Amino acid sequence: MAETFAPTSIIVTGGAGFIGSNFVHWVVNNQPDVHVTVLDALTYAGNRENLAGIPDDRMTFVHGDICDAALVDELFADADAVVHFAAESHNDNSISDPAPFVRTNIEGTYTLLEAARKHGVRFHHISTDEVYGDLALDDPARFTEETPYRPSSPYSSSKASSDMLVRAWHRTYGLPITISNCSNNYGPRQHIEKFIPRQITNILTGIRPKLYGDGKNVRDWIHTEDHSSAVWAILTQGELGETYLIGADGERNNIDVLHAILEGMGQGPDDFDWVRDRPGHDRRYAIDSSKLRRELGWQPKHTDFAEGLSATIDWYRDNEDWWRADKEATEAKYAAQGQ
Ligand code: NAD
Ligand code: DAU
Repeated sequence: MAETFAPTSIIVTGGAGFIGSNFVHWVVNNQPDVHVTVLDALTYAGNRENLAGIPDDRMTFVHGDICDAALVDELFADADAVVHFAAESHNDNSISDPAPFVRTNIEGTYTLLEAARKHGVRFHHISTDEVYGDLALDDPARFTEETPYRPSSPYSSSKASSDMLVRAWHRTYGLPITISNCSNNYGPRQHIEKFIPRQITNILTGIRPKLYGDGKNVRDWIHTEDHSSAVWAILTQGELGETYLIGADGERNNIDVLHAILEGMGQGPDDFDWVRDRPGHDRRYAIDSSKLRRELGWQPKHTDFAEGLSATIDWYRDNEDWWRADKEATEAKYAAQGQ
């Protein structure tokens, strides 16, 4: 384990999104000596309400773009570290319009790296297991830190590009960096375009859930709070220049997840529609997180998926005001794609 790094002032990009906001709440609740500056452009996926209740003396919110070099330069002058979540994050959107993915995920990461280099700011880059491509359903293998990059979609290739930039800034300029590649997150405040919240909010609004392809694609689910604790462990104890895979042994196929949602919400097992498959749809993701567990002593807390899913269903049921306004437009976009 590397010597412990103890930042007191961190910038969190994308802190008004799903995982970023859960991370900000986690830091505010668990790290009393840390001040967080959130930099977020509040795209369709960002919501200032996601940070409601956080006292002003613990967090500063900056509404801005990670591609804005002057703004980023100003913010980095006073920070110990950046935890970089901001991204365009949805595969289906990247297929219909890749341009914002190239801009935010690649150019935005480059802009942050240059400011970090100038001001000597430690850089933790949030990435995804999708950079490794996919595995066959009958393959016993899981992704490790040594798996070659083989991204499939405009989204995952833009994330792979950003990982490469971060690695290059470490090797060439000696920038103090760490990278984490995590599997599929679930939990409160996830945008309703994503699989689990889309199906829950479909049922709550009388729309039939939608399953792509043959429903056998496997995702490796982790509760977003476990992602937050892992990121903190890597930021503060990780070896500089290293990559850590984050996962909680949560492999499940989509039809099983959908059946669990249907059952948990009082629906029958066939109360859903089969829809057009995603082009290039990755078959299976699976993470071997033994490096993170062995070297940094991290363990997930939310190991009961049924319990985590039930709490997530309750959250969407109890927070209709949070998602209701986006529902019609989200479904109209999917309908236009035959999904
Ligand atoms: P999200 O789409 O919910 O949130 C993204 C946030 O980034 C939003 O608040 C948005 O306003 C902000 N943003 C977008 N473009 C910006 C820009 N140009 N400047 C500033 N802010 C901008 O995404 P998420 O699901 O919370 O994912 C967060 C990060 O975690 C991403 O880097 C994603 O690749 C990674 N990741 C996600 C998952 C997952 O399951 N969702 C898994 C592994 C890794
Ligand atoms: O693996 C990590 C990645 O997980 C992150 O990098 C991405 O940011 C995040 O969006 C997520 O990507 P996926 O493409 O795996 O997630 P999504 O929620 O879009 O889809 C999960 C699975 O469910 C996938 O196999 C497609 C399928 N699906 C999705 C939707 C929206 C359906 O069958 N029906 C749907 O309506």
